[in-house]
Amino acid sequence: MIDQRLLPHRFEVASLNNYRETAQAIRDMALRGAGAIGVAGGYGMAQAAIEAKDLPKKSFKAYMREAAEALKATRPTAVGLFHAVDRCLAVASRGRVEKRVERVVDEADNIALEDLAASQRIGEYGSKLINDGCRILTHCNAGALAFIDYGTALSPIRFAVKQGKRVFVYVDETRPRSQGAKLTAWELQQEGIPYALIVDNAAGYYMRRGEVDMVIVGADRIAANGDAANKIGTYEKAVLAHENGIPFYVAAPKMTFDPDCQTGDDITIEERSPDEVNWVWGEDEDGKLTRVRISAKDTPARNPSFDVTPAKYISGIVTEVGVLAPPYGESIREALSEPRKGSLG
Ligand code: MRU
Repeated sequence: MIDQRLLPHRFEVASLNNYRETAQAIRDMALRGAGAIGVAGGYGMAQAAIEAKDLPKKSFKAYMREAAEALKATRPTAVGLFHAVDRCLAVASRGRVEKRVERVVDEADNIALEDLAASQRIGEYGSKLINDGCRILTHCNAGALAFIDYGTALSPIRFAVKQGKRVFVYVDETRPRSQGAKLTAWELQQEGIPYALIVDNAAGYYMRRGEVDMVIVGADRIAANGDAANKIGTYEKAVLAHENGIPFYVAAPKMTFDPDCQTGDDITIEERSPDEVNWVWGEDEDGKLTRVRISAKDTPARNPSFDVTPAKYISGIVTEVGVLAPPYGESIREALSEPRKGSLG
C-alpha cells in the first residue's frame, strides 16, 4: 500500500507481511481514510488466514478471532473496519476447512471491489449536483487515497471534470495531520483540477464572501438519524455553510451507516496523541523529511480526531444508491434495504 505519511514529498509503496504489520500501519496512519482502513482490515484478515492455514480447525478459529480483535483495536471511529473484519471472520468460521483461506481472501477482494464500485457510483450521482463553474470546498482527504480509487467527496468532482464541467476546489489544510494539504491537494494536482489550499480557519472568510457554492466531505460513520462523523473541523464547516446558505453534502457508501448508533452521540471519537498537535512533519529546504515542534516544550494539547455534524446541517448524503434526502432516518433505512450493486462497468 502507498505509505501516505510520506506524501506528497515521497511516493513509496510499503509491504506489510502479516496482519500485525497491517494493524500497525492502520494505527500509525501509514494508511488512512474510512474506505482504505476497511479494505486493509479485510486483507489483514486474509493475511491471518494464510498465516494460520495449517492450524487445526479450533486453533484456526482462535487465531482468526485474535487477528480480528487486533485489527479492530487500531482505530475506533471508521465503521468500515469493523464491517470488513466481521465479514471475513464470518466466512472464516463456516464451510469446508480446506477452502477457508480461499474464502477469506475472496471476501477481502469482494470488499475492495465493492468499495471501488461504490466510489464510482457516488461519483456519478454526486456529479449531478455540480454545475459548470462550481466552487467547492472540501475538508480532509476523501479521495482515491482514502478508498481503493476515486474516493467519495472527490469522486463527484472527478466525474464532473470528466463531463467537461469547470470546477474550482478550496482545500482545507486539515490540521493536525494536514490530510488536505498533503493528500487532497496532491490528488487534485496530479489530475490538473484547479484548487487552492487554504488554512482551516479561512473557510468562513471565503463562504461569507460568496466564493463557495458547495461543500462536500466524506464520513467515517453515519448514525441511524443521519448525524455524520468525519475529520475534526467538519462540524464547523457545516455550521458556516448553513449560516451562509451554502449546500453541505456528505459523500459516503452504505458501509458507512451504523444502525447501532441512534445518533451521533453514540459514535466513538478517536483521541490521538497530543504530539500530532505540537509537532508537524514536512520537507526542509534540503528536501529532507523532518519533524518540527510548533509549540513550546511541554505544551499540553488535546487531539480529538473526528467530530459529528448533526443531520440538520446536511443537505444530502451522496451514496452508491443515490443522493439521500432528509429525514435521514427513513432514507437511510430505505438505502440499507437496497441490494448491493456490482461495479459500473
Ligand atoms: O484520520 P483519517 O485521515 O483516517 O480521517 C479520514 C476522514 O475523516 C475522511 O474524511 C473519511 O475517512 C472519509 S474518507 C473517504
